Amino acid sequence: MLWGSRFQNKLNDSAMEFSSSLPIDINLIDEDLLVNKAHTEMLEHIGIISSDEMKSIIDGLHTIHIEFEEGSWKPDPQKYEDIHSAIEGRLFELIGEIAGKLHTGRSRNDQVATDFRLWIKKAIKEIVSSISNFQNALVDLAENNIETIMPGYTHLQRAQPVSFAFHLLAYVEMLERDKMRFDFAFKQANVSPLGAGSVAGSTLPIDPEFTSWKLGFSEHFANALDAVSDRDFVIDFINACVVGQTHLSRLSEELILWSTAEWKFIRISDEYSTGSSLMPQKKNPDMTELIRGRSGKILGDYVNIVTVLKALPLSYNRDLQEDKEPAFDSFKTYLSSLNIINKIIETIEVNKERFSEELKSDFILSTDLVDWLVLQGVSFRESHKIVGSLVKYLEESGKNFTDVTLDEIKEINPIFNEDALEYLNLEKSLIRKKSKGSPNPETVRKALKKWKSKLLEMVDN
Ligand code: ARG
Repeated sequence: MLWGSRFQNKLNDSAMEFSSSLPIDINLIDEDLLVNKAHTEMLEHIGIISSDEMKSIIDGLHTIHIEFEEGSWKPDPQKYEDIHSAIEGRLFELIGEIAGKLHTGRSRNDQVATDFRLWIKKAIKEIVSSISNFQNALVDLAENNIETIMPGYTHLQRAQPVSFAFHLLAYVEMLERDKMRFDFAFKQANVSPLGAGSVAGSTLPIDPEFTSWKLGFSEHFANALDAVSDRDFVIDFINACVVGQTHLSRLSEELILWSTAEWKFIRISDEYSTGSSLMPQKKNPDMTELIRGRSGKILGDYVNIVTVLKALPLSYNRDLQEDKEPAFDSFKTYLSSLNIINKIIETIEVNKERFSEELKSDFILSTDLVDWLVLQGVSFRESHKIVGSLVKYLEESGKNFTDVTLDEIKEINPIFNEDALEYLNLEKSLIRKKSKGSPNPETVRKALKKWKSKLLEMVDN
């Protein structure tokens, strides 16, 4: 127990069980040991403890680390409020009274905030590297599908032809924005609160700059009250997870649709599909459904942390102990979703010819024909009207763009000629695209090249 001399009775067992954060913050053990070590070195640096005392404390912390890794020391939530008190308690058992010097000039309020910031920085590094891996998998799949035609949709209705590579590249862009969001969250977390004490610093000559530097933070806090109250970095981290998972959920939805008998565009490998206990023929895309389903859980984590902070007076209140679970859950959910969808994409089978014939008998090239009329000097609105009438006529006569004759098309409007019919060629439609960021195969090839070298650079750094 870290406190108690002013109490007559010890904490009731049920209150201890109710309030202990140990089952959750055990996750912070590595960070807590690091923070303890840096703080001890700082105390020696400013002359509050001797170098022998420092050595004894650091050796003790090292032993605790080994004992925990080996499983010979398991902190008991019935006995300790949190990981910080558990480590200090064990240190007393190992090195005796010198352990009492460890907490000099410090509070668990600045300690826990420091641990948590270190953990978030570590988590972000892992996430960002998984996002880059996933972008690589999408780029690889795209490289093999530059000529794979598929419908581009609006309102889930066929709109204009695109390539599968172009569609996949849209996700590569999204994922890049996700990384920027994590980058921002990393910067927010990269400020050391150690040395802020409970709320107002210390009368001892502690050195926050020293611990900040030792722990690899880019800077230390400016205001002690803010340092122990602030959990904005947790909001930023979970927010980045929410948006990231939302993107994975959108892709999951598309993979689910594309793998249906109605779409027949892709096959998800057996390794990442499940069967039905009743219907022997079934093959279900459960992994992607779970990714979609878990986006609600992460959003719940976001609502959770923001609700904890809303109306919380400064500085530390025990409510803040509830900050870790949503962050740990978001991390686990998002990272595992990223890694599994990566494997699905790596092993996916694409039915490359799926749409090449079917789209020929579609009216998906109507906008191209409008553009052709515009190039002949007809106004856009008028062109839209003309092609609309042509589509209406063909639909009524059970025909499509492949079997329309020059006479028929001229009947709709005499401006049409052979050249216009040429515009209705599906294969050439992508090549005709001229504008920036379009599915033109050349543009897509350039984009893929850019991504490949950009992603390589990231791996090198
Ligand atoms: N277990 C607490 C938490 O995670 C540690 C800080 C406790 N501070 C306090 N003043 N009771 O927030």
